[in-house]
Amino acid sequence: MKRLVLGLFGILLYAKQPQLAVQGDTIWMAYGEGNKIFVKSSTHGAARWSKPVELGEHPKLMLGMRRGPRIAVSGDSVVVSAIANGELLAWRNGVGPVKVNDVPTSAREGLHAMAAGGGKIYITWLDLREKGMHLYGSVSSDGGLTWGKNELLYEGEICECCHPSVIVDEAGKATVMFRNHVGVYRDMYMAPWGGKAVKLGKGSWELNACPMDGGDFVWEAPGKLLTSWRRDKQVFLARPGEAETLLGTGRQPVLVRGGWAAWTEGKMLWLKQPDGSVRKISEMASFVSAVERPGGGILLAWDGATEIETYDVVPPMALPKAPSRSEILKTLEREMYGKAPEKPAKQGFELREKSEDALGGTAVRKQVSIWYEGPTGKRGTMELLMYLPKTSAKVPVFLGMSFAGNSCVNADPAIFETAKRGSCASRFEAEYVVSRGYGTAVVFYGDLDPDFDDGYENGVHALYGKPKADEWGSIAAWAWGMSRAMDYLEQDPQVDSKHVALHGHSRIGKAALWAGAVDERFAMVISNDSGEGGAAVSRRKSGERTADLNKNFPHWFDGNFKKYSGKEETLPFDSHWVIQAVAPRLMYTTSASEDLWADPEGEFGGMVAAGMKPREMLKPGERYFDGRMAYHLRLGKHDITKWDWEGFMDFADQHHWRP
Ligand code: GCU
Repeated sequence: MKRLVLGLFGILLYAKQPQLAVQGDTIWMAYGEGNKIFVKSSTHGAARWSKPVELGEHPKLMLGMRRGPRIAVSGDSVVVSAIANGELLAWRNGVGPVKVNDVPTSAREGLHAMAAGGGKIYITWLDLREKGMHLYGSVSSDGGLTWGKNELLYEGEICECCHPSVIVDEAGKATVMFRNHVGVYRDMYMAPWGGKAVKLGKGSWELNACPMDGGDFVWEAPGKLLTSWRRDKQVFLARPGEAETLLGTGRQPVLVRGGWAAWTEGKMLWLKQPDGSVRKISEMASFVSAVERPGGGILLAWDGATEIETYDVVPPMALPKAPSRSEILKTLEREMYGKAPEKPAKQGFELREKSEDALGGTAVRKQVSIWYEGPTGKRGTMELLMYLPKTSAKVPVFLGMSFAGNSCVNADPAIFETAKRGSCASRFEAEYVVSRGYGTAVVFYGDLDPDFDDGYENGVHALYGKPKADEWGSIAAWAWGMSRAMDYLEQDPQVDSKHVALHGHSRIGKAALWAGAVDERFAMVISNDSGEGGAAVSRRKSGERTADLNKNFPHWFDGNFKKYSGKEETLPFDSHWVIQAVAPRLMYTTSASEDLWADPEGEFGGMVAAGMKPREMLKPGERYFDGRMAYHLRLGKHDITKWDWEGFMDFADQHHWRP
């Protein structure tokens, strides 16, 4: 059950009031839902979160208007606090709660803040134990297990319904910020914990009501705080003792180190970036929380129209400069994909079937067995399926690999294999490709190497013996198979082998990138949603991580790649290297707007780092062709669709691939 709260503007909101905290590589989020409190975490930016853990259920849990749980991380303690029934409660690592306020129901206004630093956790709240509204606080020195005596943090009465803030430095010294109520004025004040409060900014706000908000602050440098808060309809930045500067119109600002600020104006969420530019992030946002994400940048979370929404901005980062193509290939071969064998000395092709009357009479179909023999004398075979437009000219061809066998590529009953007939037709669009004057050729990745951790006992690895730490994993094996398919295409008289585009989706996109980097016979490489281990910049640590690849798919990359799990910053390369190795040939990378696991901005960033002319990130549905490089962002999920194919063939047309 979600709680409905009547917002300030009279709009009904589903209040969950997410709050974020970061420790090391992990981002934590606490939020409320109905009468329950939840916590979840992510090591993938905003792309994937752990299953939420329910901390407790409390009648009259305070939510809405910046009430709601808070979260702080100190050492190995993750502490979540919340106010229910007027009591301030804290859970440590899911255990609890313990009560923080020592006068019953004195926290009933429901507004509080918590922060950790230097081994201590500080909590401050609006307290009603005396006449009028006062700011109280308590400290925990044992990771939130127990809380110290309640302390009055400011002598005077303060604004009765604005949220307070607390920040702690590395030495464990805390500073609070709150909206004061002095005579007719409601200005923001800041005070060292239990120390003298000073007013922030030079101006004053004369107001005979509570504006129902507060401010935020951040360490700009050790000992240097920057604050942000609202006065009237405007949001300001101010350093203690200095005049305020205008940030924008709106309210509820949040700050993150390095020059980030976000605030809302009505339901619009604005983000000011370190370069000074301001961009609109959402049109349906309230009560924003922000943290500095692991590795820099900002992660925002807020109450959206019906759900918590997030936005993850990874700032541009320095990437290792790519050396010459041969050096790139040497390093990637050793540290990531593993060395694959040369073209086999014994190899052959057998045309099993040919029809001039395929796809409703529009195409020529060929089914070819490609065999190869390894030094052990064992033979492997893969089956190639091809549809070519009916013409006497040589045709440019899109070569790809299927996940489910050749029969998935089309419902065509003449395809020898029978499993999952037509089930991946929408990913290959054979009729459409042929109608535009291109051929399509497909092999099945399972013919080369089965996609599970079999100790390399099956597939092509078995023909060559168990790979060493710097020898081929499955991605390199699939890539090797793409080159064997090219061996066939090169000698098919109906194929224009100078115009073969190699395409692959997802894990096969990773393989296509590597095959295209290594094998210069491919005139175009298409990496579709290839993500981590493909086109996406690893150092962004957004979406899938090296540790996920190595843990979930240990057979994909070589033994040496395992040492980079969770240590993306130590990679001697990044994704732009493999992309750059495709140059000067054509390179097309795609992303899908909802495919955060593959990190669209990271895939785009990989292309830019590899030489594509920089521009702002594309909007869903946009394509960008820059000379020999192309990128597009499809609206939707992880997939290949006709819209993707339109882009690929438009790009090939632009480069005069059709006679
Ligand atoms: C998983 C994996 C990705 C991969 C994808 C796919 O999601 O984590 O790395 O690209 O599968 O191949 O569809």
